[in-house]
This record gives sequence, C-alpha cells and structure tokens, in this order.
Amino acid sequence: MLRNNTESYGLVTILFHWIIAVIFIGQILLGYLMVRTSDFALQFSLFQWHKSFGFLILGLSAFRLLWRMANPRPRDPLDMSRIERLAAHTAHGVLYLALFLVPLTGWALASSSPLQIPSFAFNLVVIPPLPLTISDQAETFWTASHAWLAYLSAFVAAAHISAALHHHFWKKDAVLRRMLGWHSRIRIAAQKDIRS
Ligand code: HEM
Ligand code: HEM
Repeated sequence: MLRNNTESYGLVTILFHWIIAVIFIGQILLGYLMVRTSDFALQFSLFQWHKSFGFLILGLSAFRLLWRMANPRPRDPLDMSRIERLAAHTAHGVLYLALFLVPLTGWALASSSPLQIPSFAFNLVVIPPLPLTISDQAETFWTASHAWLAYLSAFVAAAHISAALHHHFWKKDAVLRRMLGWHSRIRIAAQKDIRS
C-alpha cells in the first residue's frame, strides 16, 4: 500500500517519516558537536556534511508536504481526548514547520556570513547563497535563530517521541504500529480502537 488511507499510513509516508526523522536527529547531534570541536580541519568537513544533510531534509520535506496534501490522514484513536488531539496535531504542525525553518535559517546564516564559504550538497552541486545582507550582525542574527529553532524543535520532537511511546506501551493502541507499517496487526487493532 503506497498511499495512506483512513486507518493507516502508506509506505511513502512511512519512508518519508523515518528517513527524515533519522537525519533530523543526526543533524541536531552533529550541529551540537561540530560547533564545539577545536579541530578546525574536522570542523570544516563536519560543516559541509551538516549543510548537505540540511539541504537534503529541506528537499525531502517539500516532497513530503506535497504527498501529505494529496493523501488522507489516518483517524485518531477514539479514546483520545480533545486536548490530546490538539496537542498531537499542534506538535505535528510545529515539526513540519521546523523541517523548513531550521534548514532555511541554516542556509541564511551561511549566506549572510562575510566569509562566503560556498555550500556544497554532498560535494556534487554548489547551492547558491540566499540573497541576504552580508554582515557580521546578519550572520549573528541568523546563527542565533538557527540554534534556537533547532533546539526548540528538538524539544518538541522529544515530546512527540515520548507521546508515541506512551501510545504504544501504555495505551497499547495502533498509533506507533501504523507508522511502522505493521499492517496485519493494525487491521485487528483498527477494529478495536479506530473510529469507523
Ligand atoms: C534540519 C536541518 C538542520 C538542523 C536540525 C540543524 C541543527 C543545527 C544545530 C543544533 C547547530 C548547533 C547550534 C549551536 O549549538 O550553536 C547547527 C549549527 C549550524 N548549522 Fe545547522 N541545522 C540544520 C540545517 C542546516 C543547513 C541547511 C545549513 C546551511 C546550509 C546549516 C548550517 C549550520 C552552520 C553553519 C552551523 C554553525 C553555526 C555556528 O557557527 O555557530 N544547518 N545546526
Ligand atoms: C524515534 C523517533 C520518532 C517516533 C517514535 C515517531 C513516531 C511517530 C508516530 C507514531 C506518528 C504518527 C502519529 C499519528 O498517527 O497521529 C508520527 C507522525 C509524525 N512525526 Fe514522528 N516520530 C519520531 C520522530 C520524528 C521526528 C524527529 C520528526 C520531525 C522532526 C517527526 C515528525 C512527525 C510528523 C510531522 C508527523 C505527522 C505525520 C503526518 O500526519 O503527516 N517525527 N511520528
């Protein structure tokens, strides 16, 4: 099943979710470590990897959003309260926003830096800078915005992951299973706890 239906996620959504989730978490760790290393040769190389994976997230997220708009969203379990639904949907919205704003502010900081170091995507193509003011102040502003947004979204992602684990281990519903593509079990669980 490639497309989503009202009970479960399809393969394309599942692949988008997990590939982007792994790269996103990796980017947070890489970003944190690379700005704190004192080995400058290593730092330069890590910056290029960080930029490359950041551009990859940006590109994948654009396709993911289009796919999301062209597909139904599986229904929430019946026993979720209004507050829980609101919290879950808000967290998903914030995470979608972060998938664009975090790489865009990263691109902005690289573009506004007076050093003007070219950004390569995986050593294959040069990504042109955004048309922004080039100055130390602009670079400082975009660097702070990038770091704040990255760590805030890491916090929301941590809450999101805790909620997914809560659904799976505490409430024992199909929410995590359907994002893992465990279909046979989902069908049984869906009859029990998904609104028909
Ligand atoms: C989803 C994608 C991304 C995530 C999660 C992310 C996350 C981070 C984090 C956590 C830091 C460390 C902040 C600190 O502790 O000061 C960082 C730094 C940095 N990021 Fe990203 N980033 C992403 C995409 C990008 C992109 C696309 C670019 C550039 C094209 C970029 C360029 C940079 C640079 C140059 C720094 C170092 C800033 C400094 O000099 O302090 N990032 N990023
Ligand atoms: C171990 C890590 C993660 C787990 C276990 C997890 C689990 C899940 C689950 C179970 C859902 C489906 C929720 C539902 O059907 O209501 C979901 C959806 C979603 N997740 Fe994650 N997630 C993880 C990491 C991430 C990360 C790092 C991001 C983004 C930065 C992310 C962004 C999203 C978004 C945007 C949705 C909504 C999908 C949609 O409805 O289109 N997730 N996640």
